[in-house]
Amino acid sequence: MSTGNEIRTAFLDYFGRNGHEIVDSSPLVPRNDPTLLFTAAGMVQFKNVFTGNETRPYSRAVTSQKCLRAGGKHNDLENVGYTARLHTFFEMLGNFSFGDYFKDLAIELAWNLVTKEFGLPRDRLLVTVYAEDDQAAELWKKIAGLPEERILRIATSDNFWAMGDTGPCGPCSEIFFDHGEHLPGGPPGSPDEDGDRFVEIWNLVFMQYEQVDAQTRNDLPKPSIDTGMGLERISAVLQGKHDNYDTDLLRAIIEASAEYSGQAADGEHAVSHRVIADHLRASAFLVADGVLPSNEGRGYVLRRIMRRGMRHAHLLGCKDPLMWRLVPSLVSMMGVAFPELARADALITETLKLEETRFKDTLGRGLKLLEEETDKLSANGALDGEVAFKLYDTYGFPLDLTQDILRGQGRSVDTAGFDSAMERQRAAARKAWAGSGEAATETLWFELRERLGATEFLGYGTESAEGQVVALVVDGQDVAEVSAGQNVQLLVNQTPFYGESGGQEGDRGAIFSASGGELHVSDTQKKLGDLHVHIGVMAHGSLKVGDAVELRVDGERRRGLRIHHSATHLLHEALRRRLGNHVTQKGSLVAEDRLRFDISHPKPMTAEDVQVVEAEVNARIRENAAVETRFMTPDEAIEAGALALFGEKYGDEVRVLSMGGEDPVKGGQQFSTELCGGTHVARTGDIGYFKVTGETALASGVRRIEALAGAAAASHAAGQASALAEAAALMKVAPEDLNGRIEALLEERKRLDREVGDLRRKLATGGGGAANSDTREIAGLKFAARVLEGIPPKDLKPMADDLKKQIGSGVVVLVAVNDGKASLVVGVTDDATAKASAVDLVKVGSAALGGKGGGGRPDMAQAGGPDGAAAAEAVTAIEAALAAG
Ligand code: ALA
Repeated sequence: MSTGNEIRTAFLDYFGRNGHEIVDSSPLVPRNDPTLLFTAAGMVQFKNVFTGNETRPYSRAVTSQKCLRAGGKHNDLENVGYTARLHTFFEMLGNFSFGDYFKDLAIELAWNLVTKEFGLPRDRLLVTVYAEDDQAAELWKKIAGLPEERILRIATSDNFWAMGDTGPCGPCSEIFFDHGEHLPGGPPGSPDEDGDRFVEIWNLVFMQYEQVDAQTRNDLPKPSIDTGMGLERISAVLQGKHDNYDTDLLRAIIEASAEYSGQAADGEHAVSHRVIADHLRASAFLVADGVLPSNEGRGYVLRRIMRRGMRHAHLLGCKDPLMWRLVPSLVSMMGVAFPELARADALITETLKLEETRFKDTLGRGLKLLEEETDKLSANGALDGEVAFKLYDTYGFPLDLTQDILRGQGRSVDTAGFDSAMERQRAAARKAWAGSGEAATETLWFELRERLGATEFLGYGTESAEGQVVALVVDGQDVAEVSAGQNVQLLVNQTPFYGESGGQEGDRGAIFSASGGELHVSDTQKKLGDLHVHIGVMAHGSLKVGDAVELRVDGERRRGLRIHHSATHLLHEALRRRLGNHVTQKGSLVAEDRLRFDISHPKPMTAEDVQVVEAEVNARIRENAAVETRFMTPDEAIEAGALALFGEKYGDEVRVLSMGGEDPVKGGQQFSTELCGGTHVARTGDIGYFKVTGETALASGVRRIEALAGAAAASHAAGQASALAEAAALMKVAPEDLNGRIEALLEERKRLDREVGDLRRKLATGGGGAANSDTREIAGLKFAARVLEGIPPKDLKPMADDLKKQIGSGVVVLVAVNDGKASLVVGVTDDATAKASAVDLVKVGSAALGGKGGGGRPDMAQAGGPDGAAAAEAVTAIEAALAAG
């Protein structure tokens, strides 16, 4: 017996040996098609290769593709638990030819694999072909030697395969395995074909056409091949089972479910264990691919799958959440083939636990209400739509869960009644909004939000994706089409563009349509919390509502945003550690090339504070620990040490970002834990380098820190280093000696200043005896006066003292003119103060200078005046006053 894992490997190796490139499974959420909810077949990732819109370096490929058939065109959600071979999540093994080989080699490769490699007996195999496909029938005869009666011609759509309403398609040929007469059931095409005896194991699609719209079907550039073999089905055949749920792939989970619930795997509760196993796989792989439970779109499909599983856990009598406990058995079975599953282990576990804990509260009460209501009904009576709506609205029962429960009792739900209850609730919300006094443009967004639902954000996992235009707004008006030159606000059903929030600026980039329309997006804003509005100008062509478009985020800019956002989280925690827990976030800006972070803190940070914070952030960067994302209830998040963001509103679940390695200060929790919806680096090392560039006061008690990360920080540091090098070169020293050199220069400058002052004074007071020549005699007293330029006023008194000494006895007058203003000092030697008063004389001089007097002592007085040009007149006025006695 081969295990599921061995069969997968054997398939990939076989086609690898036959010239096929072994390609990884693509995610469950398709990025190359806006019309598909989930990847439901192996060919989805190659859709554009078949149509010729994309080229790859190989023309043959083989994959084991994760598939989900729930909520879209290919939907098996309703059937899980009721049949032996249907799943929501399964793996599709497939080989592909992109215009390389066609029917003949496809049939030969398939036949050899099943008969030679897998060793299935030829007489247990039969095939179907599309009724008109004589060529395929002939090839089966020739290559496989199958007799006519085991080549069945089927005229229905069963043998024409299409990806969806549009996309590649073509006639197909299916290989069936006959489990034997002991099981009921007829061959394909017969009335009892749905029995367990004949099982389709492989579908070979001869891809020839592309369905463009309902009317148009074009030829593909070259005939191609797409095949699909369910791993679970072929494993059942090769493991001698006729039920997929008995293969090792699912059995391990079923047994874990039996163990934790205490209910036997087989018998009475077999169906519940199967549903739980299937839904666990679907939920875990969806979470691993970035889908989280929500009330809309893909998130709601996930929530519905989870809640159906949880209801079965309830049927098993589980008091505590069950599904999260089964994650280890799934990861050990499939984690090697799908490493993303192992990577997301913690996120899957926590998401399941959270959803189940929350739903448990209402599930029991809702089931009780349902029981009371159905008790009132006649034997097959349908459940009132109002009751179904109450279950939905108050108890969190998706409509299909209620339908699933009632199906077991042969009952249905009055869906028209459900719909009208839903419409009534919407109308009430509309009315409440209309009364809330919002501006008219906001009302337009409200209407669009109501009509179109939220924009699904794909940007945590990808920077380019396809989406469908759902609304175009020009000048506040909802329009059907836009053309070159117009300023446009555009909504799509799903986007990788981040809308500005939590301080992080919105993404920029471009949006393209196949017919040449091109919108340059200069900003993305969020309206009403979950509408991503792409704002930009139409650069070329036109765009219409309904167009499929390719959305490409400017990746360089996004990278800058990511590193600055993650650096902000590290900075926040480092600040709290250095400055104290009173530090809370007051504002934040995350741009491509800088960040700004405002905190409550009463005083300026010291240079040492800044240094310590910067060093801490850089140490965490070098640690290069993984950045982890989890979803929790707000309470759990706070318990986990998350810092709540200031002024944000939270829904029921919050996204929690942890980074920076395990930290002993936090009892082993990660260094930083914050609630955050932004985009972040994968590991802290991606930030590269961090540098604070400013620390200023923003308001009283609020400091603003400006900083750079990554390339911006590095180029800032390089700029500083080269400025330093230039300065050092100018001083002709090595940069490390620059400080010593500058200190010496400053010392030198002080000394020179002193010397210059001395020299000026000497010069001003005439130096030596030479200046005595202008000493005159007035009223019997020696009189010396000087008008000086460039002498600081504070030097006048010492100069006057010098001059008094020089003349020995008499009166000295010094006027200094600086910037047009005059300062005046009059000195009288002690022996002369009886004849002349410095105070009186200085008043006379001051008056001449337009001043207000001045003052001092009889031997030395000082004054000033605005009129420096009158310096000579002041001296003359003093002379005259002295002469007059
Ligand atoms: N695309 C084909 C299928 O899904 C092979 O069956």
